[in-house]
Amino acid sequence: MKVLVIGSGGREHAITWKIKQNPEVTELYCAPGNAGINEIAIGVDIKADDVEGLLNFVKENNITLTVVGPEVPLEKGIVDLFNENGLLIFGPQKSAARLEHSKMFAKDFMKRHNIPTAAYETFSFNDKAKVFDYISNTGYPIVIKADGLAAGKGVIICSNIDEAIQTVTELFDDKIFGSAGDNIVIEQFLQGVEASVFAICDGTDYIVLPASQDHKKIGEGETGKNTGGMGAYAPADKAVTPAIMKSIRTKVIEPVLKFMKSEGNEFKGCLYCGLMIDKTGEPFVIEFNTRFGDPETQVVLPLINSDITEMFIASASGKIKDYELKLNNNFCCTVVLASDGYPDKYETGKEITGLNEAGGDAIVFHAGTKNENGKILSAGGRVLSVTGISALGLKEAINIAYHNAANMNFENKYNRTDIGLKGL
Ligand code: AMP
Ligand code: GLY
Repeated sequence: MKVLVIGSGGREHAITWKIKQNPEVTELYCAPGNAGINEIAIGVDIKADDVEGLLNFVKENNITLTVVGPEVPLEKGIVDLFNENGLLIFGPQKSAARLEHSKMFAKDFMKRHNIPTAAYETFSFNDKAKVFDYISNTGYPIVIKADGLAAGKGVIICSNIDEAIQTVTELFDDKIFGSAGDNIVIEQFLQGVEASVFAICDGTDYIVLPASQDHKKIGEGETGKNTGGMGAYAPADKAVTPAIMKSIRTKVIEPVLKFMKSEGNEFKGCLYCGLMIDKTGEPFVIEFNTRFGDPETQVVLPLINSDITEMFIASASGKIKDYELKLNNNFCCTVVLASDGYPDKYETGKEITGLNEAGGDAIVFHAGTKNENGKILSAGGRVLSVTGISALGLKEAINIAYHNAANMNFENKYNRTDIGLKGL
């Protein structure tokens, strides 16, 4: 079997690492990959959003299965294009990927089908008077979201009218997210405990993977700006008890699959449910993503014992019911090592040392790294994702992650010191 993974982050390193465990995979490629991925897969110099280039590569090299990591190629219709060419690919078609790349589509869909989510209004930049009228008369806090893709940064929580005016001005006038901010959603601020749940779907049926918790804010104790994610742990079985998981299945995942299908937007691939669980245990959807989460993937995939290549094929070919998911009893924690300054401006090109010192129960997933003449250099905001694994408990997994993270160094390294603590 020949497999291509698309993407270049910690998530794709984890996916590649897991696929690599299948002895039937004789050739494993990653486009474009990073320094860590390229140690276990053949790097292909094609960008993740060059869907035509990827199609040509897959045809020329007779790739059996393509696995899409990030959201942008999904929005560009890579799955539709591959399907038209009779190629096997893991992910949703463009119309179904709107659950992620259009927050308005997702919110309207949830409203139509009574899927629990925060109350909201939508506004267009053509109608500024309406939005200013709304933010002058609403209660606070409110959450303002760019409709389109904004690399995980398009959500701004405003605690008063001044912040709301500033945010709307930045989105509509300064166009900080380009056309992704031409339409906005303003929604009610939800309180509770956040969790991420991945459902692997085949259009009709699905399986769920163990729940996890991300740490989205840059600062300790969930303070400061939103990031792509500064660390995660799994399983999050205190936040998502079996009873809560049942509600998530029946109130969120099952209606999504049923109504996406009946509306002609059959959902295949990974449905990422970003949830707020309120104090009575009711789940509310904060957002959907239509791909695996990063860094959640780095703590969820090590909990799976069964083969994920078969899981991807079962999803893509409508046979997820036949896939037997086997889990182990481990606990995982991943700590993201970032470039100081992230999620704003940061420097790259710093040499990373200590990579070879990772101990047996830790896996160092590379995120923004590159290999330059044998030296491993930082090449992004999130640089490494150090995962600790333990059968003994979450506390041990956290200790392993931090112990190993301390051995990895580069100039201006930044990490949170409280990853996983909320799960203890
Ligand atoms: P999103 O990109 O939609 O997941 O939003 C990023 C983060 O903003 C979430 O993980 C939450 O921490 C926060 N957030 C988004 N929407 C809401 C909401 N309606 N209420 C409270 N927090 C929210
Ligand atoms: N960890 C958040 C995301 O992948 O969107």
